[in-house]
Amino acid sequence: MNCIIAQSGGPTSVINASVYGLVKENFNLEVFDNVYGGLNGIQGILEKKIINLSSMNKDELEAFKNTPSSGLGSCRYKLKDFSENEYEYIKLIKILKELDIKAFFYVGGNDSMDTTAKLSKYAKKKNLDIKFIGIPKTIDNDLVLTDHTPGFGSAAKFIATATLETYLDSTVYMDNGIFIIEAMGRDTGWLAASAALAQINGKPCADFIYLPESEFSITDFLNDVRKTFKEKNHVYIVASEGLRDCTGKFITQSAYSAHDKFGHAQLGGVGEYLKNLIMDAGITKRVKALELGVMQRCAMHCASKTDLDEAIMVGAAAIRAAAEGKSGYMVSIKRETNSPYKSSTVLVDANEIANKIKHFPKEWINKKGNHITVEAINYLRPLIADNVLLDTEDLLPKYKVFSR
Ligand code: F6P
Repeated sequence: MNCIIAQSGGPTSVINASVYGLVKENFNLEVFDNVYGGLNGIQGILEKKIINLSSMNKDELEAFKNTPSSGLGSCRYKLKDFSENEYEYIKLIKILKELDIKAFFYVGGNDSMDTTAKLSKYAKKKNLDIKFIGIPKTIDNDLVLTDHTPGFGSAAKFIATATLETYLDSTVYMDNGIFIIEAMGRDTGWLAASAALAQINGKPCADFIYLPESEFSITDFLNDVRKTFKEKNHVYIVASEGLRDCTGKFITQSAYSAHDKFGHAQLGGVGEYLKNLIMDAGITKRVKALELGVMQRCAMHCASKTDLDEAIMVGAAAIRAAAEGKSGYMVSIKRETNSPYKSSTVLVDANEIANKIKHFPKEWINKKGNHITVEAINYLRPLIADNVLLDTEDLLPKYKVFSR
């Protein structure tokens, strides 16, 4: 009997490490004869785009562990409920049966847990002997019922490092201007908040950090910036791409913004927007805005070893869950201790995670809504610990890439 693993949603630096963890643990426990990889998530599996991951040799598997971005390809594809459209369920089950697949692992975020929960429910209703298990990943860190998500620690480390380094670059002159860095995160401020880890002599590099969880006020923002610019002749600002106004609307979302197939608005451009506000208000013309963009989710050269190890851990736990006959669960991360940092895995109902969002806690945002508290820093710090040593080839990191 065999199993299949597929990836869905946005990539991360360590998403392939979960595939590695699963293949490796299967090798140790000898549960399944073959681990198949579904290409482009559920969308590709429905078109029979499937490869055999068990045929990877040891070197390829090790290289795949350290390869960033979704090595199996991805999709943002929402399954309808089977009561509305059973056709895709029937088609998928037929493909799984043809390959004697008894377990399906889906690596993804809250939309992918919706798929996992729906498929598990369908299999139970039809008395099918196929288990469905979710494996968490998202740089956004917005899944409920898990301390954090694999992928977040590496993105946080990249953002904190980029903040520290651009702070140094942006403070070299006697007449420094204003620097804005834009982090991803869509609905939540976890990524932008991680910039607070960048500190010099115990003081954060960022003067202000604006998160989607605090209503964004243009007046307050310009007052903050004007005052600090007068005092220091330099302002360092971190902004989340998902900043919202008092009506709850993204401040950069126009009526023409594109949406993905999960229905999420395509964001980006907050930094430029804030830059224009500052210039139009006449504070200074010397303003630079840097959108970190997709580097946040593929900068493997700056990944967190803790994050990589936990991505492996959740993949391995998923195989064990299926071997124990579990279905309809997601492997979640439990923080055992903070110092020294230690974590473990537990299973949680995928249905409880599907389509829900874990916001950055309001009590971890300061009163003015323009920075974060020390409790948040204590939560974030262990997740970026230690570096990943990458093998190289032609002087660059050695990655394992299936043809695209
Ligand atoms: O996966 C999460 C995320 O990286 C968000 O932070 C971001 O808004 C979105 O994906 C971008 O999506 P796309 O894959 O379309 O670039």
